[in-house]
Amino acid sequence: MAKTKTTFFCQNCGTQYAKWAGQCSACKEWNTLVEEIVQKEEKVAWKSSSPSSKTIAKPLKINEISTDKELRLDAHDKEFNRVLGGGIVPGSLILLGGEPGIGKSTLILQIALKLPYKTLYVSGEESQKQIKMRADRINANNETCFILTETKTQNIFKQIQATDPDIVVIDSIQTLHTDYIESAAGSISQIRECTAELIKFAKETNTPVLLIGHITKDGAIAGPKILEHMVDTVLQFEGDRNYVYRILRSLKNRFGSTAELGIYEMQGSGLREVNNPSEILISKNEEGLSGTAIASTVEGMRPLMIEIQALVSTAVYGTPQRSTTGYNAKRLNMLLAVLEKRAGFKLGAKDVFLNITGGISVDDPAIDLAVIAAILSSNEDIPIEKGVCFAAEVGLAGEIRPVQRIDQRIMEAEKLGFTTIYVSKNNKITLKQPKIRVALIGKIEDVAQQVFS
Ligand code: TYD
Ligand code: MG
Repeated sequence: MAKTKTTFFCQNCGTQYAKWAGQCSACKEWNTLVEEIVQKEEKVAWKSSSPSSKTIAKPLKINEISTDKELRLDAHDKEFNRVLGGGIVPGSLILLGGEPGIGKSTLILQIALKLPYKTLYVSGEESQKQIKMRADRINANNETCFILTETKTQNIFKQIQATDPDIVVIDSIQTLHTDYIESAAGSISQIRECTAELIKFAKETNTPVLLIGHITKDGAIAGPKILEHMVDTVLQFEGDRNYVYRILRSLKNRFGSTAELGIYEMQGSGLREVNNPSEILISKNEEGLSGTAIASTVEGMRPLMIEIQALVSTAVYGTPQRSTTGYNAKRLNMLLAVLEKRAGFKLGAKDVFLNITGGISVDDPAIDLAVIAAILSSNEDIPIEKGVCFAAEVGLAGEIRPVQRIDQRIMEAEKLGFTTIYVSKNNKITLKQPKIRVALIGKIEDVAQQVFS
């Protein structure tokens, strides 16, 4: 009988230890070391048939390496292509993470069914019937998508050899297990080993592999951090489950920029690509309401007009409440302090609620000015004129600070029919004669006077 070998793995960062310890010395987390059985026999997980892989790789001079235009497979989904940097790179491993129920399986199935290539969709979570039901729901069908329910990598590779797909989808990496490791599916050593086998397969056959991965409560992809190091691209699917919008972000991309962003809308019949997000994030109320302001933000590389709503009311209890949705609460407190100190607005005894509509959250500091405007508008109960939007940061001294990509923001506002945009007077604008009126502001004291006059 083979000798059983065990090792301890940190469940947080994946570091391996020979002995148990209370704290992981790599990531400093407590009580994360778990014993796992690793019984390695001779490994024949993915048997390559091409003899070339047995020959030893030789170094090449960099100018001898051919740079034929790198071919990418079109995913037939504009948003997905954009986030990947122009399509799926052959032989790459793409990991898609996201909270349970956010729509990962739906997104990938939808893409698999749109592809004109032969795809093998391996699910360890749902039966073939359930996947068929989902396909019916999203109203998609095609001739070239094969569905397999299997969790053992050795059997998956057998089926891959039999069907010879152009793309392989694994839903999800946490359900896979390989015979060469004895611990349970979803454990660190299983995830690591299964991913390594898939990488070997992907690189040797030049077949792209799409992996779905679960994420933990605090947002990290469950399993070792090394999983993120092993794959070529890490995508994250996020959004508020109570709202319909979903954002696809790239956290790591060996073949493209990580600044790109894809936006989808979850409908009754699957995900719809949102090619012009600004139009839907702004509510179309005709009469002006006090407390709303529009900000021109840039998420990733994309300009996005978002609506900010503020409610300022007299506090009923001793300590005034400050509550935000989609915006950093500390930043709100800072802006309120600046308003109080520099512009003389007494908001210390008022409740302030702030909400970014559409269920998205924004980190772009350029929305500061719109936040201030929304708060003042609610406080004074004067609506901001229609067609007005904002793009500037607010500093601690009450100065209105310039922001990056101002031209792009102005152009987006102009495109959507806004008539005035307030920006910092220190922002360098290179646009030649925009149709929209660009109003310059220097200090926070001037906001009330300029905007509400
Ligand atoms: P799913 O793709 O199963 O999530 P994940 O794989 O990330 O766990 O998505 C499930 C949710 O999406 C579920 O709450 C139902 C919803 N949904 C729709 O609203 N419309 C649809 O067409 C489909 C297929 C799912
Ligand atoms: Mg799923």
